[in-house]
Amino acid sequence: MKIAIGADHAGVNLKQDIIAVIEQLGHEVVDLGCDCSTSVDYPDYALPVAEMVAKQEADRGVLICGTGIGMSIAANKVRGVRCALVHDLFSAKATREHNDTNVIALGERVIGPGLAQEIVRTWLSTDFSQGERHIGRLRKVELIEQTYHSTP
Ligand code: RB5
Repeated sequence: MKIAIGADHAGVNLKQDIIAVIEQLGHEVVDLGCDCSTSVDYPDYALPVAEMVAKQEADRGVLICGTGIGMSIAANKVRGVRCALVHDLFSAKATREHNDTNVIALGERVIGPGLAQEIVRTWLSTDFSQGERHIGRLRKVELIEQTYHSTP
């Protein structure tokens, strides 16, 4: 898969650890920054990753900031993006099986690199369940999007 990744200044160290694990798994990484330790704004890095996924230029996206919260809020504003903030292995698996998430957000200030890498490994290797009830719920999410979002 092609995986787009982005981080703000508070996620830049974890970004390197996550790039390493994605490449170990044999996926292609598109690194959309940042590469700085000076303060930047997380929406500026969430948007290009979310857009790549929404336009199907990337299969999945990974976003990292201090908490993962700002990145997840910003990414979920882009139509077609289903971003989950994940800090445990159960949620990493469940959010693929149940929500078919195409973007994951992580907080470098919340969890360590070992757990974060394991979360990404699990999230990348888990398929959507294709369960009828989950498909139905995702259709309802799409309906909300269609009602309240304008086309990107
Ligand atoms: C940066 O200080 C911090 O606010 C940001 O990385 C993120 O945690 C926001 O949600």
